[in-house]
Amino acid sequence: MIFDRNEKKAVIALMGAGSMGTAIVRRIASGKKILLGDISEKALERVGEDFSRCGYDVETMQVNALQKESIEAFAQKASDLGPVMYFIDTAGASPNQASPEHIVNLDMVGTGYAVDAFGKVMAQGGAGLIISSQAAYMYPIPNDIELQLVNTPTKELTQVPFIQEVAMQNSGLAYMIAKRMNHLQAQRAAATTWRDRRARINTISPGVIVTPLAYDEFRANGEGYQAMIDASAARRTGTSDEIAEAAAFLLGEHATFITGTDLLVDGGVIASIRTGEYKLGQ
Ligand SMILES: NC(=O)c1ccc[n+]([C@@H]2O[C@H](COP(=O)([O-])OP(=O)(O)OC[C@H]3O[C@@H](n4cnc5c(N)ncnc54)[C@H](O)[C@@H]3O)[C@@H](O)[C@H]2O)c1
Repeated sequence: MIFDRNEKKAVIALMGAGSMGTAIVRRIASGKKILLGDISEKALERVGEDFSRCGYDVETMQVNALQKESIEAFAQKASDLGPVMYFIDTAGASPNQASPEHIVNLDMVGTGYAVDAFGKVMAQGGAGLIISSQAAYMYPIPNDIELQLVNTPTKELTQVPFIQEVAMQNSGLAYMIAKRMNHLQAQRAAATTWRDRRARINTISPGVIVTPLAYDEFRANGEGYQAMIDASAARRTGTSDEIAEAAAFLLGEHATFITGTDLLVDGGVIASIRTGEYKLGQ
């Protein structure tokens, strides 16, 4: 049975076929061509089969978001499949899953390479989305250092003294700084490479969303997360489907005037921190 005989469909490339990524893709994928990328072949097989059995036109490719060449090959594959209208990057590791070096290299440098590579293949009118984190709002980086970081080529990011001296101190700092960098990476691309291709790029900063990654965080610091959730306006965790709703808006036709911005979807956690209603570590 062939479910879809259409050709030259809009391509959606997803790097990081985990919970949030697959929820986002499912929300926008009808009638489009999906390219799923992940480091885990097992995840690709499972998710690819799931999409395929539900009637979606899907291909998979193993990609290592820590390696520039692998990311570039992934972008090339997406472009070979048709006009790349959507790129979504959700490949990441959280503080309790990895060392500072790993987080900097994956969540910051890998994202930078992905933004660079897709900045060469996006189709006109296309849209990109990087999944950052509410953690991006938890460690304000001085303006002059942000300006330095935003103007540093991806391959030189780890040599910036601030990254070496501050981000590498521990996994928490590495994560907060890497996720803030995602906002700056999207801004830079929106104003340069992606602008030149007439494509948009934004970030979403999710709060606590119940996924396998979040379970690793709960196991390490359950009480801290519970206090943060209790102090928030929503008084609950979020779901991947709620992030997919926000993503569908930013990637869709009603957001064509929005580029280079971040949408915080956190149930009010950052509002409670910024107003002193809740103090981190309480
Ligand atoms: N879950 C939360 O509470 C939360 C909150 C804020 C931000 N985030 C961010 O959202 C993104 C998605 O997380 P999720 O919660 O859906 O987690 P997830 O674990 O379901 O998905 C992450 C995916 O990234 C893949 N991945 C890891 N390393 C990779 C590599 N080197 N190359 C390619 N793929 C790789 C994993 O195999 C996994 O499929 C992450 O960047 C995370 O930091 C998550």
